[in-house]
Amino acid sequence: MELTPRQLEQFDRDGFLVFPNLFSPSEVAVLRQEVGRLSRVDSEEVVREHTGGVRSIFRVHETDGATRSPAFRALVRTPRVLRPVQQVLRDDAVYVYHTKINTKPAIEGTVWQWHQDYGSWKRDGCPRNTMATFNVMMTDTTEMGGALYIIPGSHKLGRIEPVYDESTSYKFWALPKDRMIEVLRSSPEPIAVTGRAGTGVLFHCETLHASGHNLSAEDRWHIYVSCNTVANRPPVRADARPDWVVSRNTQPLPIEDDRGVLNAA
Ligand code: SIN
Ligand code: MN
Repeated sequence: MELTPRQLEQFDRDGFLVFPNLFSPSEVAVLRQEVGRLSRVDSEEVVREHTGGVRSIFRVHETDGATRSPAFRALVRTPRVLRPVQQVLRDDAVYVYHTKINTKPAIEGTVWQWHQDYGSWKRDGCPRNTMATFNVMMTDTTEMGGALYIIPGSHKLGRIEPVYDESTSYKFWALPKDRMIEVLRSSPEPIAVTGRAGTGVLFHCETLHASGHNLSAEDRWHIYVSCNTVANRPPVRADARPDWVVSRNTQPLPIEDDRGVLNAA
């Protein structure tokens, strides 16, 4: 899939793009079956809510490890995911920084506080902001079900120094409260990115985003494929975060079969 010059302009202006119906119902069915299987894996790559339900399943795109999945490995290599990432990063040599499936279970799934992904990734040692994330919805996403909110154009604010947020079971670097209130008051309204299963969303690593509690009766299953340019890989430091969140595999990812997800069924 090739982004048009207009879509590239839109990405540069808004910091994100939405692709309705990017994956078919049969592809989504394959991916959903995998989420069911992976949710039963017991390993450090599977992060749980304080209440016990699965919050995130990391590292589903490799051929080894407890959470490996041929279908998700194929997904990240499809031209529908990888080509737009290469285009917005203006570099064909990109690799997967990490993958995570956020399952946000019905009633139980909790907030992701406002943040920029590059808040954490610069701390990991990635020198530049040549990074982006491709989200694929595997269930219909509603506002009440904990849709992702994005502030259009917020990537233009540049990186805002984050603070360590320990309010959820997955601790990470989020926007300081007072700065976030200022940003909200001076920015366009955040957009709730709702859509049908199969929708794709690509966003810049400095785009401000968050999601709320899932108050609905349905789980909200999303996969986030975060990518970096090979030239921007961080040094492997003794204190580096684990491989499932800062991948040591920095080989450029090849674009493969667009039918890969179906073939992995
Ligand atoms: C993220 O920001 O990485 C995930 C947010 C979400 O799952 O809503
Ligand atoms: Mn994020």
